[in-house]
Amino acid sequence: MNRGTTESNVRYNPGNLGDLLKHGWLVEIVRFLHRLKTGEPLRYADTFCGFADYGVHDETAQRIRDRFHVLEFRRLQEPFLDRGRYAGSVTLAGLAAEGNLRASLFDANPQALASYPAGTAEILEIRSGYDILDSKDPYDLIFLDPYDDVWADCKTVLTRCAARLDRASILIFFPLEAESQWDLLAAAIDRLGINCQRGFVKNPGNPLDGTWHFAAIFMPGTLLGLGAVLGLFGELNVVTARVNALAANP
Ligand SMILES: C[S@@+](CC[C@H](N)C(=O)[O-])C[C@H]1O[C@@H](n2cnc3c(N)ncnc32)[C@H](O)[C@@H]1O
Repeated sequence: MNRGTTESNVRYNPGNLGDLLKHGWLVEIVRFLHRLKTGEPLRYADTFCGFADYGVHDETAQRIRDRFHVLEFRRLQEPFLDRGRYAGSVTLAGLAAEGNLRASLFDANPQALASYPAGTAEILEIRSGYDILDSKDPYDLIFLDPYDDVWADCKTVLTRCAARLDRASILIFFPLEAESQWDLLAAAIDRLGINCQRGFVKNPGNPLDGTWHFAAIFMPGTLLGLGAVLGLFGELNVVTARVNALAANP
């Protein structure tokens, strides 16, 4: 494994099933929104941004190359895997938007923010990644990628997301300790009546992937036409199915 020093305190194995779900979705969503922008930069907020890229285990890199058949994600990730790295969310979003990304970032870990070359992104002056939900600034996409502590406040976070959809689409990722949390999450979303796509990956617990199950929710902004996002919802389902296929036969 080639592991860089800067991201040494990352809590999980980069390139695991959760990463494949969130990043597979992120690439499809950014590509879709980028096409709609017809040349204007995509305004992207990533307030749990992590590092620009990570060291990846050889076995994890090989599994992605051989068995994760999500072509655009693979195409973007390939040059990183080739040198023992795995691209993080901001790097992938920039590539998926063909460089036409206006990124606004935050992370509670200053070392993570320092992994981005100076001047490549705006660093938001907030205290927590969730604060972006209180700002009135418009974004094409807000990506929220917290650790499992999101669960304690999950209903409040979803309610705040629902109230933000007039000025942004939102992708949020949840690591789940128990499978039953997926049903609770789905029920909370139903109660809020949010139009969204949901994806769940049941993790059998391969050592490469840890023990968490994973969920992703994409809530399109209200300004996006319902018809337009249906095709995207289908693409997201394909990604979820491919991560689950990998999970079922690790
Ligand atoms: C799952 S990692 C992010 C991975 C990254 N989005 C990627 O895909 O490459 C979660 C990140 O959230 C950061 N974090 C934890 N609590 C936070 C908070 N309240 N506000 C902002 N960042 C936080 C951690 O330092 C960590 O880098």
